[in-house]
Amino acid sequence: MKIAVIGTGYVGLVVGACFAENGNDVICVDNDAAKIRGLQRGRIPIYEPGLEELVRRNRAEQRLAFTTALARAVRASQIVFIAVGTPQGEDGSADLQHVLDVARAVAKAMNGYKVIVDKSTVPVGTAERVRNVIRRETTHPFSVVSNPEFLKQGAAIEDFLKPDRVVIGAEDPRASELMQELYAPFTRTGAPIMVMDCASAELSKYAANAMLATRISFMNEIANVCDAVGADVDHVRAAIASDRRIGPSFLFPGVGYGGSCFPKDVKALVRFSKEHRYDFQILRAVEAVNEAQKAWVLGRLEAHFGSLKGRQIAVWGLAFKPRTDDMREAPSVTVINGLVGRGARVHAFDPEAQPVARGIFGSRIAYADSGYDALTGADALVILTEWSEFRRPDFARMKTLMRAPVVFDGRNIYEPAAMKVRGFTYFSVGRP
Ligand SMILES: NC(=O)c1ccc[n+]([C@@H]2O[C@H](COP(=O)([O-])OP(=O)(O)OC[C@H]3O[C@@H](n4cnc5c(N)ncnc54)[C@H](O)[C@@H]3O)[C@@H](O)[C@H]2O)c1
Repeated sequence: MKIAVIGTGYVGLVVGACFAENGNDVICVDNDAAKIRGLQRGRIPIYEPGLEELVRRNRAEQRLAFTTALARAVRASQIVFIAVGTPQGEDGSADLQHVLDVARAVAKAMNGYKVIVDKSTVPVGTAERVRNVIRRETTHPFSVVSNPEFLKQGAAIEDFLKPDRVVIGAEDPRASELMQELYAPFTRTGAPIMVMDCASAELSKYAANAMLATRISFMNEIANVCDAVGADVDHVRAAIASDRRIGPSFLFPGVGYGGSCFPKDVKALVRFSKEHRYDFQILRAVEAVNEAQKAWVLGRLEAHFGSLKGRQIAVWGLAFKPRTDDMREAPSVTVINGLVGRGARVHAFDPEAQPVARGIFGSRIAYADSGYDALTGADALVILTEWSEFRRPDFARMKTLMRAPVVFDGRNIYEPAAMKVRGFTYFSVGRP
C-alpha cells in the first residue's frame, strides 16, 4: 500500500520504517527540514535499538523516503498517518494544534479518496474535529480513523512488528477494511485487531497509560510504607506479582515515572474528564504521588549529608528509561536541577542521552566519558536509570574512585545485603 506518515519523531519514524519493512511504500514527512535532510543522508535523529538498520535497509530497497513536501506525499498515498506531537498545553490538556494543522494541510492536498489516521495520542472527540477540519477544506471523499499507538520506546520496533493488539476506531467499513488489510501481516501470530468506534479507540490509549502510571504510583506508595514499617518491597512485590489477577509487570518502585507520554497523558485524561464534568480522583492522586516521588533522592541525600553545598555527586542515568535517549519529563531533570540549586556539583553519565542532556543543562553540570569517570572524587553516586551496563559494575574499582562509597539507588538495581558486604553505604527505595 502507499502510505504517508506525517511527523517523523519517535513514533512516526518507527511506524514508517516498520510499514516499509512489510512491503509498503512509505513517505515520512516532517516540517523539521534539518531532521529530514539528516534522514535523507542516513542520519537517525534518535536512539532506538534496531531503528538505524531498519531505516537503512528500507531506504536502500526504495520503500522508505523522507521529505518536507507534505502535499506531494499526500497525493502519492492512499493512507495518511498523523503522528505529530500532542504536547501538554498550559492547562494540562493535550495541545492539538499540530494535529489540526496537519489535518488542514492534508485536506488541501487531497486528490481523491484518502484514509486519514490519527496515530498521535489525542483526546476523545479529536477524530470528529479532524473530520470537520478536513470537510471544510475539500470535496474529495475521505475517512478518518483513530489508530492509537502502544509501542514502548526502547523496544519500539519489536512492539510495532509484534503488537499485543491493534486498535482501530473506524466509523465506515471501507476504511476499516483497508486498515485491517494493512495490519494483517503484523498480527499473524494471533494478536487481535480490535475494531471499535473512534471515541473508544481514543480513550483506550489514555486508559492504558493511566493504568500503567497508576501501578507505578501505587508501588511507590507501597515502597514508602515499607520504609515506614520496616518491610521489604521486593518481598511484597514478589508476593503480589504471583497473583494472576495482578501479574508481574510495572510493579517496580523508583524515582517516579517520566517520559513524553505518562505525565502528559495522565494530565490530559484528568483534564478532558473534567471538561465532561467528571473528576478523575485516582489520577489526580497518581500525579501527586509521582511528583512527590521525584523528591525521594534529594530527601535521602539531605538526610545523609545535611547541606549538599559543595558536594560532588555522580549521576548514572539521564534518560527517562533505558534503551532510549529521550529525556522528556525525565526524573533526572528534577533531581539534577535540585542538586545544582542546592550547590552540589554534578558529574553525570548516560550511555545514550548525553547529547540531549547537554541541550538541557549546558555547562551547569559536567559530563563523564564513562560511568567510572563520573565517580572520580564523588561524595555519592545517584542511580536514576536502570541501564543494563550499570547492573554489574566493578564495585572494588568504584570504591577506589569515589571519595566515599555511598550509593543512592533510585532503581533498586543492587541487593542491599550484598552492597553492605562490599562496604557501601547503600540506600534504595522501599528496602531496609
Ligand atoms: N513516544 C512514544 O513512546 C509514544 C508512544 C505512543 C504514542 N505516542 C504519541 O505519538 C505522538 C508523537 O509522539 P513522538 O514521541 O513521536 O513525538 P516527537 O516529538 O518525537 O515527534 C513529532 C514530530 O512531528 C513533527 N511535526 C510537528 N508538527 C508538524 C507539522 N505541522 N508537519 C510535519 N511534522 C510536524 C515534529 O517536527 C516531530 O519530528 C504523540 O501524540 C505521542 O503522545 C508516543
